[in-house]
Amino acid sequence: MAYETVLVDIEEAVAVVTINRPKQLNALNSQTLTELNEAMTELGANSEVRAIILTGAGERAFIAGADIKEMAGKSPREGRRFAELGLALLERIESLDQPVLAAINGFALGGGTEVALACDLVYASNRARFGQPEVNLGIIPGFGGTQRLPRLVGRNIGKEVIFTGEMLSAERAREIGLVNGVFAPEELMEQVRKVAAVIASKGPLAISAAKHAINRGVDLPLASGLEIEKGMFAGLFGSRDQNEGMAAFVEKRKAEFTGE
Ligand code: CAA
Repeated sequence: MAYETVLVDIEEAVAVVTINRPKQLNALNSQTLTELNEAMTELGANSEVRAIILTGAGERAFIAGADIKEMAGKSPREGRRFAELGLALLERIESLDQPVLAAINGFALGGGTEVALACDLVYASNRARFGQPEVNLGIIPGFGGTQRLPRLVGRNIGKEVIFTGEMLSAERAREIGLVNGVFAPEELMEQVRKVAAVIASKGPLAISAAKHAINRGVDLPLASGLEIEKGMFAGLFGSRDQNEGMAAFVEKRKAEFTGE
């Protein structure tokens, strides 16, 4: 499907989704949120795609936040509807069977940091800047930032980021656990593609089960999380991938996974 604000490119089991509003620093308006959700849904249903990379067009921004010009005149009811569009996209990313890797090529502010928080792995260029600057606009984060950020980096660091609205360097974002790795701008995509290729070579059922076990269990009491893991671990036995993976180990050859 063709989109106006989103580009999708699939190469060897890895899809690259590019938010394509570089003149607006890839700010998320309703159209982009809707198109991103549709693109992610479509890729989620494509069993040939085993990992998804999300990035921004141009050299300046991943996503400079929700579109302030669109938000400016909204009523509370419209503000809620807009938040729901953003929240739906983030939930879509989290619910996909394939891992989503964020390649943060520049500003990831407001909704940009929030989108990164929903991705499974986050890699950044050393020029990237993170932050939740909503308090500068008289609002608070609306795509889950007050909830996902403190859960990931701790309550007080999360509050500091949200209360001050200040930008964080990529290195600081790595220190607090928001970012997995930082690279030179010209190396970013190549490095993220390498990680995606490694993931794409594993059993898709196992990768999906691991993602869902972690996402579902991480906010639960340990005992409940362990129950989820046990069910998912057991559920993989008898799959073609499990038979193939273990047979390949015994026969000392590389496994060929099919996701069945
Ligand atoms: N919404 C709409 N347009 C945006 C935008 C945004 N979030 N961020 C940048 N733009 C537009 C600018 O308006 C400008 O467009 P024009 O040329 O038509 O004026 C263009 O992108 C380039 O931006 P700047 O001229 O501002 O570039 P700069 O280099 O001087 O500054 C910046 C870069 C620091 C990122 C600055 O653009 C900025 O502060 N952007 C807003 C960041 C922000 O507050 N994000 C949070 C939004 S609220 C949110 O996300 C709520 C939520 O949780 C859902």
